[in-house]
Amino acid sequence: MSAAARNLTIVATAVLLAALTGCGGWQSVLDPAGPQSGRIASLWWFFVSLLGAIYVIVIAAMFFGVFRGRRDHTDPSARPAFRRNVTAAVVLTAVILVLLIVGSVLTGKAVSTSLASNQALVVEVTGYQWWWEIRYPDSANASRTLTTANEIHIPVGRPVMLRVTGGDVIHSLWIPNLSGKIDLIPSRTNVIFVRADRPGVFRGQCAEYCGLQHAHMALFVVADRPAAFNEWLERQLQPAPEPSDANLKRGQQVFLTAPCSMCHMIRGIHAFGQVAPDLTHIGSRRTIGAGTLPNTTGHLAGWVTDSQRVKPGNRMPPISLAPDDLQPLLAYLESLK
Ligand code: CUA
Repeated sequence: MSAAARNLTIVATAVLLAALTGCGGWQSVLDPAGPQSGRIASLWWFFVSLLGAIYVIVIAAMFFGVFRGRRDHTDPSARPAFRRNVTAAVVLTAVILVLLIVGSVLTGKAVSTSLASNQALVVEVTGYQWWWEIRYPDSANASRTLTTANEIHIPVGRPVMLRVTGGDVIHSLWIPNLSGKIDLIPSRTNVIFVRADRPGVFRGQCAEYCGLQHAHMALFVVADRPAAFNEWLERQLQPAPEPSDANLKRGQQVFLTAPCSMCHMIRGIHAFGQVAPDLTHIGSRRTIGAGTLPNTTGHLAGWVTDSQRVKPGNRMPPISLAPDDLQPLLAYLESLK
């Protein structure tokens, strides 16, 4: 094999592997975890296989024409076959177009209506620059309404009604493993139904350009068995745990005296801020900064002291704290499981 042919083989194999591994994972339309995304994936495969086949046929026909050479179409004996071939190709193109349109419309209809049910769990999602507020309303008992951020937990097997709106500008919620996109528009509520059919963690992403940090506006959907979901919900409904030692108590004091509590809420202490993510159980969340960093002590330290370095333009100002104030604060935040 020549060097050029060998290089070509390596490149082709790498591209194929990249394409195949891109099919799986926690943010992939081709790894559906529910019926809505399953329908979208089926439609995608239908398009790809049909249009791929057409591409191959067209290229083959081109080579056939090139190698067969020029023929004389002014010859009257060739005209009926020529006319027949062109008519067949036009009819076939029209039929294929209609097939694609019908497939798209049926998929759109199934995705928007098939899970609609009043047994669905309602989750309200509000998009802000650049994070997600998540609410679990309880219409029977308002004190059991939960507000959290950047992480949606759902029970496996139960339809979930996502009621979405924009808090400032237009955003778009896209959780590819579960469904298609839905716009979050200020002063309007849009509804989308999803269902996870297997436990897992799926990444969602804002899919509508919404300003400087649009790309750092992610969230995670955690699909759990119903018992584990209920356990999570009950734990989240609790106020923040009391500091269990002097260090955590100091951390709580730092939180209340530093600017933190002007924007952030921690239920159970005098921190009533409403303009930034609720931190009552921040220690239980996977990420900070709306999916931007893993929730570890080191990352949290960097975020608290200067989040502008990580996510320039975000609404949180740098907070300058002495090390013996910062360390207890971090310990306190991490203790809020
Ligand atoms: Cu929010 Cu893009």
